[in-house]
Amino acid sequence: MAIISSKSESEPQPPRQQKAGAKPSDAAEPAAPASVVREPRDRPASPPEDGLRPQKIADYIGQKSLKEVLDIAIRAAQSREEPLDHLLLYGPPGLGKTTMALILAQEMQVDCKITTAPALERPRDIAGLLVNLKPGDILFIDEIHRLPRVTEEILYPAMEDSRLDITIGKGQSARTRSIPLNPFTLVGATTRVGALTSPLRDRFGLIQRLRFYEVDELTQIVTRTAQVLNTPIQPDGAEEIARRSRGTPRIANRLLKRVRDYVEVKKSGRINQAIAAEALELFNVDPCGLDWTDRRLLSVMIENFNGGPVGLDTMAAATGEDAQTIEEVYEPYLMQLGYLQRTPRGRVVTRAACRHLGYEVSAVPDFYNEQQLSMM
Ligand code: ADE
Repeated sequence: MAIISSKSESEPQPPRQQKAGAKPSDAAEPAAPASVVREPRDRPASPPEDGLRPQKIADYIGQKSLKEVLDIAIRAAQSREEPLDHLLLYGPPGLGKTTMALILAQEMQVDCKITTAPALERPRDIAGLLVNLKPGDILFIDEIHRLPRVTEEILYPAMEDSRLDITIGKGQSARTRSIPLNPFTLVGATTRVGALTSPLRDRFGLIQRLRFYEVDELTQIVTRTAQVLNTPIQPDGAEEIARRSRGTPRIANRLLKRVRDYVEVKKSGRINQAIAAEALELFNVDPCGLDWTDRRLLSVMIENFNGGPVGLDTMAAATGEDAQTIEEVYEPYLMQLGYLQRTPRGRVVTRAACRHLGYEVSAVPDFYNEQQLSMM
């Protein structure tokens, strides 16, 4: 997918859409690929995942209900010759929020500008992006819960009325000027939907959650990526990698690359179940996908806090991990496995986690017992 630089356009123009009902595949000419514009500050030297990303909704594996909702939104927007409604995607990292924004741009045949909220410190950062959007373009803002207040307020009229309100001057001589913008679609991505202010959240027409992937979905993703990377793999090898990928495609693709390195250096031939397991043990990824940090979080809770309840900040101090990373990266999967629970008094480890880590189950109270949980 091409990376292009943005051009400014002075006057808003009607959205560049196909005729009503026309799909990209109906066009006489093959659909031109949507372009990606990364803001220079967050542009990686060479985006490592871009070649592995699916380009169309039909190629996107998993997230069935999200795909259904977006498919309807795309068709409706195309038939009305309008931009897509603003979309908020939330869920743990690595589940495909950026990929989905790029697919939407491809399906709508528009450009996608990618940026991240911490890069939008000053009003002029977001203003510069907005005025350069062409009709129907997608503006993707990652970590949107981290938008500074001043930037967020500029987005309100932009999202609602395609208008940029800027203040010129200071104090009593300050004046507000409105600049018309081309209608566009904001796709916001966040791991913490609860941290968004309600005025911002309420301006999204579509709010969709991405879920962890099932093992069979990740197996298909690993198989597809192996094909793209020209790496021979057996179905049981793909499944072994999938099972250890924490329900997350980004991790599945990363583990596949590590196993590929292992095979190239130590073995030869195809990746099978035994080789994948051997390689991933070496990289400290256990059969459930837990890594060293997951196991340490659980074992510190068991050994130092009798299984909990433990507050997030106490966990962070006791393990030396960042509290936000524990909350957003580690805990969601541990909870999904049923190894950790959040209670009003803090985090507790379950007996299933004790069993998995080889502790006596009596090392922690039976937190699954409803009565105990409600008393906490
Ligand atoms: N690569 C990463 N995520 C994917 C997905 N959901 N479907 C297909 N390929 C992928």
